[in-house]
Amino acid sequence: MCSIIGIIGKNFVAPALVESLKRMEYRGYDSVGVATLSTNRISVRKGIGKVNQVNSNLNLAEMEGLVGIGHTRWATHGGVTDYNAHPHPCCSGDIAVVHNGIIENYLQLKEELVSKGHLFRSETDTEVIAHLLEDQYNASRDIKVAMMGTVNQLEGSYAFVAMFANGTLACARLDEPLVIGISDNAYYASSDVLGFLQYTDQAMFLDNRDIAIMDITGTCIFNFGGESVTRSVTKVAWELADANKGEFAHYTIKEIFEQRISIKAATYQEEHKIKAFCDAIVAAGKIVVTGSGTSYHTSLITSMLGARVMKKRFEPVMASEFKYNMDSVDKDTVVIAISQSGETADVLSATKLARAAGAKILSIVNVPTSSLARTADVSLGINSGPEIGVAATKSFTGQVSLAYAIVDRLSGGKVGFERDVVSDKITKMLGGSAGIERLVNMTMPKVNDIYLLGRSIHFPIALEGALKMKELAYVHAEGIAAGELKHGPLALMDKNAVVFVLNADDKTYSDTLSSAHEVKARGAKIIGISNVSNDIYDAMIEIPKMDNELLYPLVEIIPLQLFSYYLALHNNADPDFPRNLAKSVTVS
Ligand code: G6P
Repeated sequence: MCSIIGIIGKNFVAPALVESLKRMEYRGYDSVGVATLSTNRISVRKGIGKVNQVNSNLNLAEMEGLVGIGHTRWATHGGVTDYNAHPHPCCSGDIAVVHNGIIENYLQLKEELVSKGHLFRSETDTEVIAHLLEDQYNASRDIKVAMMGTVNQLEGSYAFVAMFANGTLACARLDEPLVIGISDNAYYASSDVLGFLQYTDQAMFLDNRDIAIMDITGTCIFNFGGESVTRSVTKVAWELADANKGEFAHYTIKEIFEQRISIKAATYQEEHKIKAFCDAIVAAGKIVVTGSGTSYHTSLITSMLGARVMKKRFEPVMASEFKYNMDSVDKDTVVIAISQSGETADVLSATKLARAAGAKILSIVNVPTSSLARTADVSLGINSGPEIGVAATKSFTGQVSLAYAIVDRLSGGKVGFERDVVSDKITKMLGGSAGIERLVNMTMPKVNDIYLLGRSIHFPIALEGALKMKELAYVHAEGIAAGELKHGPLALMDKNAVVFVLNADDKTYSDTLSSAHEVKARGAKIIGISNVSNDIYDAMIEIPKMDNELLYPLVEIIPLQLFSYYLALHNNADPDFPRNLAKSVTVS
């Protein structure tokens, strides 16, 4: 998703702008641009490609100036072209803008601006902001007035930073994140604390409908109505800055291996917070669990755990479907919103609607400073550290571990999640990575379709395993509730299919084995993921026996993550930054 950085400093800012954009690369993007102000003139350089590539083509880091803005774009309105890359200058070139989000009424605004003589150079919605600011600034010669006049005409969700030729940076946000960083030598405005965390840990989180105006002497913050507001300075955790690959070839494989530790970290919670979280669940009449992508799969697991252990109804709802399915959400409802980033637009919009209907919002997030963490009534962090790989790995197992800790607390330990025991079992699974790599090379040359079968608590893992294979390796993969095979998917089974069977020795075992027979009879290759061997498997990935069958997800997902990673390498795909995907999807 688009990343924004703006810097006002005492030294040339371009090298820091480029570094910041690199640190936010994980968010996903297709083009890059930087604008700086030197001798009262704004220069813009931008193009499609990765930060390193565009930097070496256009020498971004060598641009001169003490004030600048930078951006990585994830295309929404207008194709992936050099012109559509940000920053976007206004007609005179005295204002340039970088933006994240969507301006819903941009066509109407563009028409009005064109009729006033403004010349547009891109197909983006963003460019209207630059021209609107120009219009407003020409009329008032006052940046605050121009900002207010502009935001009051914009509809949609946005965070933007505008650079003016007099050396001022002005920014505003509505439903997209924007954080100000403050160091001795510079001020920063960024969509992500990682954008400036290598320079300062002092951050000011702007609220919705805040405008900040910054020059080298300081920052003033107003609301959209022009009244001054104060936002406190927070010290953000330095460990967030610890985002490098270490000895690993990719972030994704590093993060897969980190799960030995991160599943434990997820369960360390402050007593008052976890108590408040659990008390709210106990008091609730209805519990809805929501999330997107991988976090939705955690919602499925959490709902199953809650219902089984607490004998209470938990309803999983995809965040993107929430608005169509909220007739029963009311003040008796608790919504548990799960998100790695805490910035996913579908999740934020679900919680906003739920809150308006009177529901209480609990959240499980990885980024403690995120919008979801800050707006929930109670928020628990999974403490996984930065997850840079676009496809979620350690955040998933962190979320699931925390769900176990919560239901164990609520039920007096009925699941029996012991973090050290599970961590040892995960370590053992990771030790088999070379075998999984061989399995990829053996099974995959001629295969286009992968199916994953599982019942009960294994079904969300079938979905999550399939999602990893799609995201990382660009292979068609489908998770199927094994009992549904005969209701349709069986028609697809033939010798070209590879079928993973999630078949632990629990109460789903014999039913799932029957499903495996049905598939085998149609010629498909079967890879069993089980703690007991069976001749029916063409290959088997052994998992350890778990004391409680509800605990299998954590060991089953590991080989599927590894398989997806090695399959990505086999298919020459970049596992860290899959095509067309963004780490944090901040548009609906
Ligand atoms: C994007 C990512 C997925 C992720 C989903 C939810 O679609 O590509 O990998 O699972 O967002 O993200 P969240 O940060 O809310 O967990």
